[in-house]
Amino acid sequence: MSWLIYRSFRSNFRGLLLLIICGITFCLLNYNRYLACATSSAFDQEGTSNVTGMLSLFPTVRPLTFQRDKAYFVKDRKVKQVNCAAIFDGDESETALEERLASEDKRYFLQPIDYINMTSNCSKFILERGYVIDSLDENEFPIAFSILMYTAIEQAERLLRAIYRPQNVYCFHIDSKSGIDLYHAMSRIAECFDNVHVLEKRVDVQWGHMSVLEPEILCMKYLWNRSAKWKYFINLTGMEFPLKTNYELVRILQAYNGSNDIEGTIKRLVIKLLGRAIPDRWANAGPPPKDIALTKGGVQIIASRGFVDFALHDPRAAELLNWTRKTMHPDETFFTTLNHNPILGVPGSYRVLTNSYNLKLSNYLSGIPETDEVVKPFLARYINWSWDTLECHGKYVHSVCTHSARDLPPMKDSKKLFVNKFHQEFHPLAYDCLEELLLNRTRDRHLGLSSFNSTFYSNLDFVKNRVEP
Ligand SMILES: *[C@@H]1O[C@H](CO)[C@@H](O)[C@H](O)[C@H]1NC(C)=O
Ligand SMILES: *[C@@H]1O[C@H](CO)[C@@H](O)[C@H](O)[C@H]1NC(C)=O
Ligand SMILES: *[C@@H]1O[C@H](CO)[C@@H](O)[C@H](O)[C@H]1NC(C)=O
Ligand SMILES: *[C@@H]1O[C@H](CO)[C@@H](O)[C@H](O)[C@H]1NC(C)=O
Ligand SMILES: *[C@@H]1O[C@H](CO)[C@@H](O)[C@H](O)[C@H]1NC(C)=O
Ligand SMILES: *[C@@H]1O[C@H](CO)[C@@H](O)[C@H](O)[C@H]1NC(C)=O
Ligand SMILES: *[C@@H]1O[C@H](CO)[C@@H](O)[C@H](O)[C@H]1NC(C)=O
Ligand SMILES: *[C@@H]1O[C@H](CO)[C@@H](O)[C@H](O)[C@H]1NC(C)=O
Ligand SMILES: *[C@@H]1O[C@H](CO)[C@@H](O)[C@H](O)[C@H]1NC(C)=O
Ligand SMILES: *[C@@H]1O[C@H](CO)[C@@H](O)[C@H](O)[C@H]1NC(C)=O
Repeated sequence: MSWLIYRSFRSNFRGLLLLIICGITFCLLNYNRYLACATSSAFDQEGTSNVTGMLSLFPTVRPLTFQRDKAYFVKDRKVKQVNCAAIFDGDESETALEERLASEDKRYFLQPIDYINMTSNCSKFILERGYVIDSLDENEFPIAFSILMYTAIEQAERLLRAIYRPQNVYCFHIDSKSGIDLYHAMSRIAECFDNVHVLEKRVDVQWGHMSVLEPEILCMKYLWNRSAKWKYFINLTGMEFPLKTNYELVRILQAYNGSNDIEGTIKRLVIKLLGRAIPDRWANAGPPPKDIALTKGGVQIIASRGFVDFALHDPRAAELLNWTRKTMHPDETFFTTLNHNPILGVPGSYRVLTNSYNLKLSNYLSGIPETDEVVKPFLARYINWSWDTLECHGKYVHSVCTHSARDLPPMKDSKKLFVNKFHQEFHPLAYDCLEELLLNRTRDRHLGLSSFNSTFYSNLDFVKNRVEP
């Protein structure tokens, strides 16, 4: 429809009449569509369906009874305003429709006070929000999640819902700069589940500071002690979203076979290094602990249980952590350095390293280990940085693309595990569509309609060249 209007514009006003007719029709259609959505996104609160079985997650939408008109319940996560499948296939008119609706979308986002209310009856909350409370035969392989958040409770809660399974464990850290109401509401949500925890301690997380690392370590410690069963640790922020279902994550992590998916670069530091002995970030910290070669990595990690054990309990890890306190961006040094020093014998770390353990320019230039798309890809995150991306259809926030619907198509078949990032107020339908896709895949797998081939992951260089526990 929008495309039609566009075309009639271009045909030099010859289609003025057509334009007017189209415009009116469009408004009517759109208005109806919008209404349809506004109502169906809130579902009835009778709570009679059974969410322990997947099939019941897709009830036919029943007539609505509004108890709270603001509520945004999506038991049936099929998006009504736009055709998500078409957007994922790159359909221009649906994408353009989403873009137009984005500016008009005045939806209400659930606030901490709403969650306090909704969690007064936990079983009702779990039922109405549509959590998958069945392990779906994936209970042999639990995953531990650490999630940092500071704002947008609805988005964080929808992330939890997307990755929630009863066999996994979840640890939230809430920034001390966030309102206390956010902390209270998240704690209430956590109380509805046996396996979700909100850290009592709230660190004032400052970018580039040790405080970024602290909540991670606290959550790691909590998760370590919480259960001896989980096999992998994944850290996220409230603004990220899975590109794989829990089943697919399990298959991928099984293919990883104990190796860690942690970014590491030396080469990219060379630019900063020219004319200096050591990159700025490490310059004031003095020499690192004996024999350790430094690397720089991103802030997201997927680490095996053995890696977490080492990071928490080995004295050499403690020494390195202590040393990183004096560096800039300690979070970008600690985990990646552990993962790229075979000499330490860290379980699942990367065995290939040609440079010796010092900071000579030639070692930086040799560039191993080096994360790249071909030999040693970093699959934990789909992320588009302003400096290496051709296009971001959403907007850059701190050099990272915050995605819109037009950015969705390549995510569908991406090998990456999670996407960074979305903002609930910015193109909310793009986020809705991703939820729909993920739930569809969960359903299709459950119904035996789809299969997942993890061969790509088993053949990765970092899997083959891992340090055995
Ligand atoms: C819900 O579904 C599960 C699995 O299909 C079944 O075992 C259980 O009895 C159902 N519960 C109710 C209350 O219907
Ligand atoms: C999800 O499944 C529904 C029902 O089969 C389908 O209509 C919809 O297009 C699917 N969505 C996506 C994003 O594939
Ligand atoms: C939650 O909100 C509804 C509608 O505003 C209200 O009727 C209900 O009493 C509230 N429940 C609690 C526990 O505050
Ligand atoms: C909680 O909600 C469930 C399902 O809606 C209902 O059966 C139950 O009676 C409620 N419990 C309380 C204490 O209100
Ligand atoms: C957690 O800590 C408690 C107390 O220190 C200890 O008894 C328990 O065994 C620990 N659990 C795990 C899984 O490490
Ligand atoms: C994992 O590695 C071990 C050897 O360390 C091998 O025997 C096993 O088959 C591998 N598993 C998978 C799923 O590749
Ligand atoms: C931590 O580093 C300081 C120097 O910055 C040193 O005095 C201290 O002994 C170190 N502690 C550990 C546990 O390595
Ligand atoms: C994940 O953990 C790393 C290492 O501690 C930390 O620097 C980073 O901030 C965490 N990232 C997220 C997304 O939580
Ligand atoms: C965005 O990032 C993903 C993976 O990180 C990559 O596959 C994709 O090509 C990037 N998009 C653009 C336009 O560069
Ligand atoms: C899985 O994919 C690989 C190529 O990546 C292919 O060789 C293999 O046959 C596929 N396995 C199945 C069961 O489709």
